[in-house]
Amino acid sequence: MSHLIHRPRRLRRTPALRALVRETRLAREDLILPLFACPGQNVRREIGSMPGVHNLSVDEIAKEAAAAYDLGVSGVILFGLPETKDEAASGAYADKGIVQQAVRAIRHSVPEMIVINDTCLCEYTSHGHCGVVRDNEVLNEESLELLARTAVSQAEAGADIVAPSAMMDGQVGAIREALDDAGFENVAIMSYAVKFASAFYGPFREAADSAPAFGDRRAYQMDSANAREAIREAELDYSEGADILMVKPATVYLDILKTVRDRFDLPLAAYHVSGEYSTIKAAAQKGWIDEQRVMMETLTSIRRAGADIILTYYAREAIKALRNRGQ
Ligand code: PBG
Repeated sequence: MSHLIHRPRRLRRTPALRALVRETRLAREDLILPLFACPGQNVRREIGSMPGVHNLSVDEIAKEAAAAYDLGVSGVILFGLPETKDEAASGAYADKGIVQQAVRAIRHSVPEMIVINDTCLCEYTSHGHCGVVRDNEVLNEESLELLARTAVSQAEAGADIVAPSAMMDGQVGAIREALDDAGFENVAIMSYAVKFASAFYGPFREAADSAPAFGDRRAYQMDSANAREAIREAELDYSEGADILMVKPATVYLDILKTVRDRFDLPLAAYHVSGEYSTIKAAAQKGWIDEQRVMMETLTSIRRAGADIILTYYAREAIKALRNRGQ
């Protein structure tokens, strides 16, 4: 009989032993739930390609946030579907804009909730691009001005954190300066530093009604083949004053997450995006996979690769699963 000294199976024998040597843990505090605010009253409209996710009117979003908080969710990120859209994205920085109303309502219903605002223009522009368009081109500096205005109006409404996601060059610096000038030096910036042009955003564009009317976002979001460029993007946002860096999407970019983790000491977020959520949901609805186990395995892999914070439509379900395990 062979004499084995090393038997890794010794520590896999029981649930307690496995828990004792587990290297990565998910915690409810790591999870941020995205919510979508829309006009109207008593509106709760499920998104076809994202079962369990809804467009919510302001009254409903306040209730949804309160219920999520009671369940253990400590932070939300808000997106808005404005009544009307225009070339200047005026709904993005209107004092009574849809997202500004949603922030105020959540601040009122759950004062302890961490409120993050996605800072972008694509949900508010008539053409669906993330910036100002001229001659079919998205202009950088002109867009910065509107993004900065948007961030300030989100801060005025009560956001704790703004999260610029337009992938315009210099957006973190422009927003930091505008926030400071307006007296919001304590509002933090979670920058979508490494955001790839991804087909995994498909269902979100249904949820936020933000698909570009022409072309795509490849002239500003990153090419999915690039890893060195991700470091450069993270470096720029770090030097412009980002407080938290983000990589997005998450699961097909775990290598990027790991690299950014190893190179930067800022808190690191990963966005488990709409298409990542919907693919699990769809397979689960067909009965092909065990949804809860695939969800937990996926979120754990994102933590293992180095994310401190995970933005996920699964936040509530993951917290329930953690609770059932007694964590
Ligand atoms: C806004 C924005 C998008 C997402 C987050 N912020 C869409 C996009 O860039 O097209 C995607 C989130 C998701 O897919 O869940 N620019």
